[in-house]
Amino acid sequence: MPINTSLTVVSKTPQEVFELGVGIAKTPTTLRATSQLIGRLDVEFLNNRKFSAKVGESIVFASTDSLAVVGVGLGEVTRIDLEGLRKAGASLARSFCSTRSAVLMDDFVPKKLDFRQGAQAFVEGILLASYEFKKYKSKSDGEEATDSPKEIFLVSSQAPQLRAAVFRAICLSDSVCIARDLVNEPASSMTPQVFARTASEYLQARGVEVEVWDEKRIAKEKLGGVIGVSKGSIEPPRFLTIKYGTGKTPIVLVGKGVTFDSGGLSLKTASGMETMKTDMSGAACVVATISCLAQLKAKVSVVGLVPLVENMPSGSATKPGDVLKARNGKTIEVLNTDAEGRLILADALSIACELDPVVTIDLATLTGACIVALGDRIAGIMGNDNQLIEALKRAGDRSGEELWHLPLPSKYRKHIDSEIADVKNVGASGGQAGTLTAGLFLQEFAPTSKWAHIDMAGPARSTIDEGVYKKGASGFGVRTLVDFISNYSQTAKTR
Ligand code: BES
Ligand code: MN
Ligand code: ZN
Repeated sequence: MPINTSLTVVSKTPQEVFELGVGIAKTPTTLRATSQLIGRLDVEFLNNRKFSAKVGESIVFASTDSLAVVGVGLGEVTRIDLEGLRKAGASLARSFCSTRSAVLMDDFVPKKLDFRQGAQAFVEGILLASYEFKKYKSKSDGEEATDSPKEIFLVSSQAPQLRAAVFRAICLSDSVCIARDLVNEPASSMTPQVFARTASEYLQARGVEVEVWDEKRIAKEKLGGVIGVSKGSIEPPRFLTIKYGTGKTPIVLVGKGVTFDSGGLSLKTASGMETMKTDMSGAACVVATISCLAQLKAKVSVVGLVPLVENMPSGSATKPGDVLKARNGKTIEVLNTDAEGRLILADALSIACELDPVVTIDLATLTGACIVALGDRIAGIMGNDNQLIEALKRAGDRSGEELWHLPLPSKYRKHIDSEIADVKNVGASGGQAGTLTAGLFLQEFAPTSKWAHIDMAGPARSTIDEGVYKKGASGFGVRTLVDFISNYSQTAKTR
């Protein structure tokens, strides 16, 4: 699936390009162009148009068929940060009216920010906001068969230093868009088998090793959770092991891959099911993250574990009250077949333990309760190692993906005690602290080494076009994980 092929971002020196756009920031007294290259700014023109340089506000100074000179607000000059630059880039992308635009980068990024990181954030904003999933839209009359290619020039006297940042932004944005494509695809055409094939082809083309287990191998490997969830569906399960790098103690990434979650026999409501093709966002994130690390040639060793199932009701489905045995031998009483994510993650986390990981991070659209607690822009993070959680939160802050640390209280562990098995798959009645009991359940299967669990039920999908997001799948987590892992490989020289 080609992504953003119609949009090119290149960095150029002023000599190479003379058509210019401009960043505009607010000082306490006036508006000013953030670049000295632009010369004097027509403040009166801006004031007449009621342009106040709010983050992401945009204004077209002049446009022809082939060129726009666009001004984009950056907010208060002392407060410009990476997310503001990302939003400014996104807003620039949304206000395009021509095929070629140019933005001045010199002094665009305030001194306190790293110039290259600023340029990276800005380009990420442009590319992520330009994403579209048009595969199933008919072309309307008069619409051109192909999009006219768009070009953006980042004009800077430091252009050569920006090229690596632009490359990084392109790799990251492409990967986020791959995750979005996997999730936006309707569930009937993105089954476990199709996901496994698509992801393998994609990763292998980037030199990443992928092993696919089919249903027979899954049974042989005793993945009782995966088998239990997939039993109600005519679509057989798959399990992916993705390997990048050769180190002995890898970073293990685990992603929930429920290609459709009907709830099973504990059936969801009609409206509750509408967006449940999104339930493989954790899986899509793991695939996209590892592919991005490979493109960036990150010096790190990562293993991705991706259980893939479809959760459906039928005569062969797992019934409430049934008992499953997970890979690590623990037994689980399934009281609600809609709490299926934790069942397949139980197997994947058990396998993670066997790999002697340096850290394990799982990502899952796990609980509706997490959306109640944190809404649609913040993910919950839980785990057994505060340093790991803090490092992930910092990576999230740099990437504009907010993670909020929630507890795993041992006093709630009793809520997942089962009458007849080792644990049950739901917590206290009434769904009290549903996100935390899901986390406590996972902890039973998680490595004794460092482990973090990210519940991204909210931010995996956006209901509106806003900032870097388009309505639909968000590709949440990819940028945070790539940032975290890239920094990890630089600081952890001991491995
Ligand atoms: N995939 C859902 C969680 C979810 C809900 C994600 C809404 C995104 C939007 C998960 O499998 C689920 O159904 N969880 C149940 C757990 C409950 C039965 C203990 C939930 O949250 O209701
Ligand atoms: Mn469910
Ligand atoms: Zn689910």
